[in-house]
Amino acid sequence: GKVCLAYSGGLDTSTILRWLQDEGYEVVCFLADVGQEEDWDAVRSKAKKIGASKMVILDLKKEFVEQLCFRAIQCNAQYEGRYLLGTSLARPVIARAQMRVAQEEGCDFVSHGCTGKGNDGIRFELAFLAINPKIQIIAPWRIPEFCNRFQGRNDLLDYADAKGIPVTSTKAKPYSMDDNIAHCSYEAGMLEDPSVPAPDDMWTRTDDPRKAPDVPVDIDIKFEKGLPVKLTVGDNTYTDSLELFIALNAIGKKAGIGRIDIVENRFIGLKSRGCYDSPAMTILRLAHLDAESLTMDGKVRSLRDQFVTHHWSELLYNGLYFSPEREFVENSLVFCQRRINAEIRLCCYKGSVSVLSRTSETEKLYSSEEASMDSLENFSVLDTTGFINVNAIRLKKYGMQKAEEGQS
Ligand code: ARG
Ligand code: SIN
Repeated sequence: GKVCLAYSGGLDTSTILRWLQDEGYEVVCFLADVGQEEDWDAVRSKAKKIGASKMVILDLKKEFVEQLCFRAIQCNAQYEGRYLLGTSLARPVIARAQMRVAQEEGCDFVSHGCTGKGNDGIRFELAFLAINPKIQIIAPWRIPEFCNRFQGRNDLLDYADAKGIPVTSTKAKPYSMDDNIAHCSYEAGMLEDPSVPAPDDMWTRTDDPRKAPDVPVDIDIKFEKGLPVKLTVGDNTYTDSLELFIALNAIGKKAGIGRIDIVENRFIGLKSRGCYDSPAMTILRLAHLDAESLTMDGKVRSLRDQFVTHHWSELLYNGLYFSPEREFVENSLVFCQRRINAEIRLCCYKGSVSVLSRTSETEKLYSSEEASMDSLENFSVLDTTGFINVNAIRLKKYGMQKAEEGQS
């Protein structure tokens, strides 16, 4: 059989690459470029050296930013009130591309190196099966012969030694990372104890906010239909989605914006401690929230927050991108963004981003005159008396009942 393996060049997937061949498979390796820091040539030659019949590397940065990151921004997406979903957002794009490669290369099998306890294995496999229900999945870390044989890093190293698999000499980090253009995640290893603070030298996508420059950086972000279309920083203007995103990452990195350290609930119910730095996403999210504050109807906003934001975030986290409910929720998301046109001025400074001002050429909802009373047509402040009285009918009854029961 022929397998398409998601290959990273690390010790785990290198072992899997060789093991699959021992088991009699021909292996095509696949690696997605979603903006991670990587030595692409080194991964390519390593895959070939270990015996891959082919190594396919695809640049998915633009589709990742436009189709997932910007959707997340339109949605104000956030999991459990904190996590901006950097890893969860990348999975659908990677899985879809891997399935494309599997099909082009005539593979009946796909494989990956995710553990059996995390979200990623679930996300990849749900995506694979939704895209091609006939695909056969090999998840070595859930196959008894494989995980009994490789119980720790030493078993992997012994195997690598015996099979001539090159092991990169850089010392393994005491935690696991997942890097892409939206964020870098850090978990496991020394981070498993939530009472131990993360080491200062861990963060890769943000500089230490305590050492950030004393000079604030003001920027302007323009939204059309809830999508970022222009970034202005001093004399520089960015209108290409990817360039805009990269420029924001650079600004946010220098100012140390977008670090979080949390304990989250994985889909399978386990709690896990994770640290994330997501500079561009953090800045864009605040800017978008503010654009909506000026241009979105209040009631629509309230419903959207409860329904669209909550469900889209949770289903992305749970690996349900290729689901009917994601399509349903996303349709109403796009619909509610059609009038979100605004330009937001922000200040990036020492670990935080704040809003300075906002304008919109198209919005008709906000009026400084109306808010300052009395000038509204068909409305007199006397109407407010009736408004309060009607709203109080129910509350007065409830208050009366409580008083009779002797409660306050
Ligand atoms: N806990 C985060 C999430 O589920 C990050 C996962 C990182 N994945 C990894 N294979 N290191 O989205
Ligand atoms: C893994 O288990 O492969 C990484 C952690 C996660 O997916 O949540």
